Amino acid sequence: MSFDAVAAEAYDGFMGRYSRPLAEVLVEFAQLSETGRALDVGCGTGALTEVLVRRFGQTEVAAVDPSPQFVEATAARFHWADVRHGTAEALPFDDDLFDATLAELVFHFMTDAAAGAREMVRVTRPGGVVAACVWDLENARGPYSPFLRAVEEVTDRRPPAPRPGTSRGDLVDLFADAGCLDVAESELMVEVEHPDFDEWWQPHTLGIGSTAGQLAGFDDDTVAAVRERARELIGEGPLRLSATAWAARGIVP
Ligand SMILES: C[S@@+](CC[C@H](N)C(=O)[O-])C[C@H]1O[C@@H](n2cnc3c(N)ncnc32)[C@H](O)[C@@H]1O
Repeated sequence: MSFDAVAAEAYDGFMGRYSRPLAEVLVEFAQLSETGRALDVGCGTGALTEVLVRRFGQTEVAAVDPSPQFVEATAARFHWADVRHGTAEALPFDDDLFDATLAELVFHFMTDAAAGAREMVRVTRPGGVVAACVWDLENARGPYSPFLRAVEEVTDRRPPAPRPGTSRGDLVDLFADAGCLDVAESELMVEVEHPDFDEWWQPHTLGIGSTAGQLAGFDDDTVAAVRERARELIGEGPLRLSATAWAARGIVP
């Protein structure tokens, strides 16, 4: 899926509010060294880049994304970081360059997740770490799972088909098949506060990210009915909502 039409600010208000705290727990789970060089694959607007920069320093962090406006936004935030345009399946970096290569909420958007895992291993030095996480959509624990449930209950529109990384074991298998050693899995949970229901709902109407298209083609009454069902499911607020991701880390042989 392409994020080309998604403005950086719109992304931050939608998924960034969840991916920023998730980046902190992903880095903790990955058990990275205190020094070295790190790559953020599918950096978006730089939620994970920021955590890596804090740990390793701007000159020791690289980031890559296929969406030009995200590359621009991340490069503008981190002037000394090496921010490039490209995909996980064909990373524009030499072999064995990084001590750690991470991908937050990216595997489910790849056209070839196995190639993405192999590329993460290729650019990481032997003994280095690869790690990734994707929302647990198998058990409806993503941040927008209540939205998808409301759409499904009110209309006949089914949720998007399962994608790589969204089920237990997916990321483990991808890293193991790419040759990683000591591959471990965990669940990463974050909690995000929303002042009220409208603040939670509004980004879903923008047609961006993974839920883009879910409301497309429906008339105002149907959209209002979906909104009302979602409000019944999560409440009026203030809201404190949790979301859980599957995560895996492995050592490069
Ligand atoms: C949900 S966003 C996550 C962004 C960021 N990692 C974060 O956690 O906020 C998914 C990102 O994956 C990027 N992406 C989509 N397909 C990709 C691919 N094949 N390789 C690398 N990145 C990809 C998108 O452009 C987008 O920035």
